[in-house]
Amino acid sequence: MSLPNYILALDQGTTSSRAIVFNQQGNIVALAQKEFAQIYPQPGWVEHDASEIWSTQAGVLTEAIFKAGITAKDIAAIGITNQRETTVIWDKETGRPLGNAIVWQDRRTADYCDQLKVTQGQFIQERTGLIVDAYFSATKIKWILDHTKDARQMAAEGRLLFGTIDSWLVWNLTGGKVHITDVTNASRTLLFNIHTLTWDDELLQLFDIPKNILPEVRSSSEVYGETAGRLLASKIPIAGIAGDQQAALFGQMCIDVGMVKNTYGTGCFMLMNIGERPILSKNNLVTTIAWKIGEKVNYALEGSIFIAGAVVQWLRDGLGIISSSSEIEDLARKVNDNGGVYLVPAFAGLGAPYWNGHARGTLVGMTRGTTSAHIARAALESIAYQTVDVLKAMESDSNVSIKELRVDGGATSNNLLMQLQADMLGTKVVRPRITETTAMGAAYLAGLAIGFWKDIGEIKEHWKLDQNFEPASGNNHALLKGWQRAIFAAKAWADF
Ligand code: G3P
Repeated sequence: MSLPNYILALDQGTTSSRAIVFNQQGNIVALAQKEFAQIYPQPGWVEHDASEIWSTQAGVLTEAIFKAGITAKDIAAIGITNQRETTVIWDKETGRPLGNAIVWQDRRTADYCDQLKVTQGQFIQERTGLIVDAYFSATKIKWILDHTKDARQMAAEGRLLFGTIDSWLVWNLTGGKVHITDVTNASRTLLFNIHTLTWDDELLQLFDIPKNILPEVRSSSEVYGETAGRLLASKIPIAGIAGDQQAALFGQMCIDVGMVKNTYGTGCFMLMNIGERPILSKNNLVTTIAWKIGEKVNYALEGSIFIAGAVVQWLRDGLGIISSSSEIEDLARKVNDNGGVYLVPAFAGLGAPYWNGHARGTLVGMTRGTTSAHIARAALESIAYQTVDVLKAMESDSNVSIKELRVDGGATSNNLLMQLQADMLGTKVVRPRITETTAMGAAYLAGLAIGFWKDIGEIKEHWKLDQNFEPASGNNHALLKGWQRAIFAAKAWADF
């Protein structure tokens, strides 16, 4: 019997839930998207309502199928990709979350992480590949268990389940039947041993987290279960899961060692495929699992930048100097340079390679002549400079001189940013025709599991170039030095 003609990717991101229908050629047939509330209860805290995440995701799922003019019967499989690290704990009897999900950007456990890092940093890095930081899930889980009435008692009674967003979606999609995660998401928790591919008992003890709340860890491409009858008219297998950045690496077809992609979303995440053995970073990057397909595990080095596209949203919603994100390019083009202004968008602390959970947004170098155009330019440049910092660390860790950077995500439509990026890096920036590579990666993982696509070789043919941005010759030394001074100022403020 032949398979249905489409794969559906669910892309649950930090600011919106999306569903995209792909055809056999890897082209987008329909897309539905819905934003949901960002909850900021205190400075440095970021939460989501997990029930709203589920309802918006379920809503766009049916909307995308409707827009494609097909029915659930035409979908061969579902692939899931998600904002990583964000932590939900729910009561498996009622299906209700214990409270809001704590989002990856949330800094409430920064002090605890600072202390832990001193004594346990190296041990934790050796086991998990990660840096001790509030970014990852473990301290968020601990916080919920310690601050929610009766939570530890409920856990002891076996009533609680923990999940990153992939787990939460699968549990809801399957009507509460399946509690799993995949290796890529597990590798972001600070609880997963990336060598043995199991939950690490010593780390669970260290963070005081009961093992019975954790999901079963599976590969990134296999059939995990099927959608519950009440959701859609026919059941669809769920067959692929990867954290959004790993999914993008796969969607960009960075399948050979040394290939690198950078995704410009809320944050900016650069990943390099390092093959089948984990390399621990000496330059403050993290080692993460890129995917597991069959028995084969691929690892990646990652530089996680917390604020990239979100700085543009801040210019729109916080400062109000643009009314839509796309206006930033025209505004920034009104000036030829930044006029000495630098913006460090450390709104959620600084990630790689600085890892300072206490840093905050810092604007320096303004004069009486500074205009909104300079600030717009400084905001765009900040995305490019942060990427330079991460790329340098990556070259040093891997001993590879990076020849080209594949880029994707919403902000890559900004040609000024892409050219600035190439110029600052001194490296070619390569933009593919389809920049929805995150969803594409999830669709590919699901399609491979059920034989919708024969193998990676077939998928590779789908990747098509849109535009190369060649670096202009010239010396960026002064600009990069200005950026380093701005970083110095942000850190000095945090550490004062
Ligand atoms: O680690 C956080 C990352 O997964 C968030 O991705 O695309 O929602 O910015 P995004």
